[in-house]
Amino acid sequence: MWSKSDLQNLVKDKLGDYLFIVVSNRQPYVHVFNKGKVECRRGAGGVITALDPVMQACHGTWVAFGNGDADRKVADEKGKIKVPPENPSYSLKRVWLSKEEENGYYYGYSNEALWPLCHMAFERPLFRQEDWGQYVKVNRKFAAAVKEEAGDKKAFVWIQDYHLCLLPKFLKEISPSQFVIAHFWHIPWPNYDSFRICPQKKEILEGLLANDLLGFHIRNHRDNFIEAVDREIESKIDREKFSVTRQDHETLIRPYPISIDFEGINRISVSAEVLKIQEALVEEFRLGGYKVLLGLDRIDYTKGIPERLLAVDGLLERHPELKEKVVFLQMGELSRIHIPKYKELNDEINALVEEINWKHSTDTWEPIILVRRHLSFLDLIAFYRMGDVCLVSSLHDGMNLVAKEFVASRSDEQGMLVLSQFTGASRELTDAILVNPYDREQFSEGIFFALSMPDEERKKRMSKMRDLIQQHNIFRWSGKVLSELLKFEFKE
Ligand code: F6P
Repeated sequence: MWSKSDLQNLVKDKLGDYLFIVVSNRQPYVHVFNKGKVECRRGAGGVITALDPVMQACHGTWVAFGNGDADRKVADEKGKIKVPPENPSYSLKRVWLSKEEENGYYYGYSNEALWPLCHMAFERPLFRQEDWGQYVKVNRKFAAAVKEEAGDKKAFVWIQDYHLCLLPKFLKEISPSQFVIAHFWHIPWPNYDSFRICPQKKEILEGLLANDLLGFHIRNHRDNFIEAVDREIESKIDREKFSVTRQDHETLIRPYPISIDFEGINRISVSAEVLKIQEALVEEFRLGGYKVLLGLDRIDYTKGIPERLLAVDGLLERHPELKEKVVFLQMGELSRIHIPKYKELNDEINALVEEINWKHSTDTWEPIILVRRHLSFLDLIAFYRMGDVCLVSSLHDGMNLVAKEFVASRSDEQGMLVLSQFTGASRELTDAILVNPYDREQFSEGIFFALSMPDEERKKRMSKMRDLIQQHNIFRWSGKVLSELLKFEFKE
């Protein structure tokens, strides 16, 4: 089993004089003003959940967009600061973007074009030329920041996600042999018929083919990518080795299902602090005596939140005996709020919650509690510990780490996971109750099945899922990516 120290040893033994740089749009720690004081918060999202423990083990530099209103105040003249605050173990180098750049690159091209293009959630992508212009410009800015950090030293660079498709190409243009580059694609890669509508498809593929190693969560996404290259780019594809060679440069394409720090979460989950928070949450939401269903997401149309609410409605219609016995607590952090679709979704969720609560509530009970607030890491684990059933209903999701975090938090082997079959996680967590979120009746019955499952079966399923995540943890994921990347410089 891979542990944090195995990863540390790999880095210590093999990295030598090379630098290790991670690049992503979202920063792991954000500084914000709260009532006149600077507060440091851990960023939200799968990339951070996965890579913060890795960086704490590897002590490299993380380059990311500084989006907090107090970020500049605490960073040095190069935009750098040591994190995490309680145990500074790696450097965060912030890239500063103007409003115009953030709009075009992040809200526009990344999240109104690429995000809906890659997720089959039936949202139409919007391709605007101005957004693309900003996307190119910001990718160049990131390349300059990486170069500034590296100086003339050789560096292993590990790029994250769809915001930075052109970064590998720009880095190789700046300095062809200085950077050995891996790129992990955290979201699905669509099938060719979906992908081919993208006006910038060739540029995106060419950008990604400048990587030495390109990772996806599952084989299906890898195969979709190779199919797109085959149809669009003149290149040599080796289907045994899963590699693409273009203009004498070879890119290896690999599946690496991402995971979480199982041991870390497991340890925290039994701490006195978590227990205290848990008790406070039970009191705050008056959950005592109820069976608790949980949902936890960024408010995003790929997460299937309306579908989940409708399934809870269906559950109460089909099983009225559950009234006054079950509460569904949905936590959600607002996300990408300047995009109209996200605003609409937020309104839709509010209206649905109101309608369903009106329909089923009694004098003393309401079935759904909707809370929008930022949860600290400890809050998050306490939240997972309160649930009898966790509902993950994404319409399409690269992996979904909420599912894995929930399982890792349940050292008591209580609780059951109801999981959408359209998540990457459903390929591994086959002991969850797998549902199709588009099929309301089946989804409702899946929740009922989870609620009424005999103790022994629940424990058996939970224990199998926990074993799997314990083995396939985040250190194994990053160890595998890094071992493959290191081979480019240090032949075995
Ligand atoms: O996991 C996919 C992802 O896009 C991550 O890259 C990102 O950190 C997360 O979802 C949250 O999205 P955002 O950074 O736009 O809030």
